[in-house]
Amino acid sequence: MAGILDGKVALVTGAGHGIGRGHALELARQGARVVINDLGGNAKGEGEGRDADVVVDIIKARGGDAVADYGNVGDEAAAEAMVKRGIDQWGRLDIVVNNAGIVRDKAIWNMSVDDFDLVMNVHLRGTWLTCRAAAQHWRAVAKAGSGRYPGRIINTTSGAGLLGNFGQTNYAAAKAGIAGLTLTLAVELAAIGVTANLISPGGLTRISSTLGMGAPKEPDDFGPDEFDPLDPSLGSPAVAWLASDEAQMVSGQCIRAVRDRLSVLKGWHEAAGITSGGKRWKTEEIGKILATDLFGTRAPGLRMGG
Ligand SMILES: NC(=O)c1ccc[n+]([C@@H]2O[C@H](COP(=O)([O-])OP(=O)(O)OC[C@H]3O[C@@H](n4cnc5c(N)ncnc54)[C@H](O)[C@@H]3O)[C@@H](O)[C@H]2O)c1
Repeated sequence: MAGILDGKVALVTGAGHGIGRGHALELARQGARVVINDLGGNAKGEGEGRDADVVVDIIKARGGDAVADYGNVGDEAAAEAMVKRGIDQWGRLDIVVNNAGIVRDKAIWNMSVDDFDLVMNVHLRGTWLTCRAAAQHWRAVAKAGSGRYPGRIINTTSGAGLLGNFGQTNYAAAKAGIAGLTLTLAVELAAIGVTANLISPGGLTRISSTLGMGAPKEPDDFGPDEFDPLDPSLGSPAVAWLASDEAQMVSGQCIRAVRDRLSVLKGWHEAAGITSGGKRWKTEEIGKILATDLFGTRAPGLRMGG
């Protein structure tokens, strides 16, 4: 049966487990050849392993094609190598799904600088590094040809980054940063036909099990038609579609796919506004304007602190 990604080559980072594994399996099911990147550490970013091999084996056993990559997304040379791996192997790159992630949760007063740096390094720096390498490649291909290439970037954000979550200042900052990065990529790459979108996924994985939700599950623990609200691959069909030619007109968007619900998320917008009439604001007067006129009446749901 023809898939919507026949002939395409994809990179999925952190595809050894959980949500990324679900994306990789679905992209392969839709006909893409997939670079399975995974450093193979634990959910806190400790250790290394060959976890990517398991997913390569599953894809091959199902008749697809995949290659393993064990690089660390936060390392410049490794990120460039994983982007190049599909090009070396199959002569092209069409899709980059940035999904690799770790958590090191603590309230900010207990969080070490190492906890902050490592989480930012994997999520935000890693996403930026592969996006830069892919953008450079697609720009060169576009310039050498018609001026356009239908490349696809799908980056992973989270409710913590979009709405805030206790104990996750490092993770939330990284995930919010990925949202800003992706909106900007959508602007920068539009002229060459590359789209950039966000997925905000869910599922019971190694990462979410650190919040006491139970033992993690892998997408291949479930049958193809089975529905489990905690299956980490429930958002993978949306990712596969965003990666396809059908989604050429969709860029700079965020899809939340959690349990059986799909939603389009919209970010910061002006909830209330007031103009000064061409004068400077005065500190002595601004409290009334903000507290009463803006937060109080025009955007009454808003409260700052207490
Ligand atoms: N599970 C959820 O409910 C949830 C919610 C929102 C967002 N997310 C995001 O989804 C993504 C996938 O997480 P998951 O929940 O499937 O957890 P997971 O631990 O099952 O998967 C993350 C994968 O990333 C890999 N990885 C970690 N550091 C890496 C590095 N430096 N280089 C390459 N690979 C690396 C891990 O080995 C692991 O296989 C993450 O970005 C996470 O923040 C998850």
